[in-house]
Amino acid sequence: MYPHHNRGKSFFNIYQCSELALSRPLRPAHCSPAIISDVPARGKFITFEGLDGSGKSTQIEKLARSLRAHGLSVSVTREPGGTATGEKIREVLLHSATAGLSPLTEMALMFASRAQHIHEVILPALAEGRIVLCDRFTDSTEAYQGGGRKLGIKPVLQLHEILCGNLQPDLTVLLDNEVAFSVERARRRNRGRKNSHSAKDENRFEQENRAFFGRVRHAYLAIAEREPQRVQVVNARGTPGETHAIIMELMRKKLKI
Ligand SMILES: Nc1ncnc2c1ncn2[C@@H]1O[C@H](COP(=O)(O)OP(=O)(O)OP(=O)(O)O)[C@@H](O)[C@H]1O
Ligand SMILES: [Mg+2]
Repeated sequence: MYPHHNRGKSFFNIYQCSELALSRPLRPAHCSPAIISDVPARGKFITFEGLDGSGKSTQIEKLARSLRAHGLSVSVTREPGGTATGEKIREVLLHSATAGLSPLTEMALMFASRAQHIHEVILPALAEGRIVLCDRFTDSTEAYQGGGRKLGIKPVLQLHEILCGNLQPDLTVLLDNEVAFSVERARRRNRGRKNSHSAKDENRFEQENRAFFGRVRHAYLAIAEREPQRVQVVNARGTPGETHAIIMELMRKKLKI
C-alpha cells in the first residue's frame, strides 16, 4: 500500500548540496496560506504523471526499491489519497458508482485531498530530508479537470496557489504513451482485479471516452512544454525495465541521486 512515512537512513548531506532544493518556491510573497510550513524543505519532491495505465505505480515501486537499495530514505504516497481523509475522498472520486459529480466539485475534492496531503505527509517528509515519490499531483488536476473536463488551466493554478501554497515538485516524470495503449492496460488490469475480493472499484475515470483521454494527454504535453525544467517526458511504450532505466538516468542527471 502507500505508507505515509517509511523511515530509513537520512539523505541530508546530498540535499544540502542541491541547488534544486534551494530554488523550490514554497511560499510566494503574495500568497502565504497558514497551512504551508515555514520549515525549509530539504528533501526531494518527485511526482509521477500520465494517463491511467501509463505505468506510474509500476515505476514508482521500482524506483523506491532502487533508491532504498542505495540507502536513501523514501516515502511513497499518492493522490487523490495519501492520508486517512484523502483516502475517503479518493473513494468518492474514483468509485464507478459515484454519479453526477459536477466538474467543479470533482476539482474541489481533488484539491481538498491535496491540501491535507501536503499538510500531513508531504511537507513533514520533505522537512525530514526524505525523497517523496508521489503518484499524481496538481498536474493531474490540470490535465483531467482542466483539460479532460474542460475547466481550463486558470482555476487549477489559482486553487494550487491558494490551497497548496504553490508547492512545486523538484522533478515531474510524465509517462507518455498513446491513449489506446495506456487506457487498455488500465482496463486489462482492472478486469484482472475484479476477480480479487480485496480490490477496490476505482474505475470511474477509466470509463471516460477516447476524446476525454485525448484532451488529458494534450494538456499534459502542454504542461511539459511550458515547464521543461521541471517536467521530463518519458516514453512509456517500452518494458517496465526499460522505462525504469530511463527514470534512473533522469534521477542521476537532474537530481544528482
Ligand atoms: N511498461 C509496461 N509494459 C506493459 N505493461 C505494463 C508496463 N507498465 C505497467 N504495465 C502494466 O499495465 C497496468 C497499468 O500499470 P500501472 O498500474 O503501473 O499504471 P498507472 O499509471 O499506475 O495506472 P493508474 O493511473 O490507473 O493507477 C498494470 O497491469 C501493469 O502491470
Ligand atoms: Mg496507479
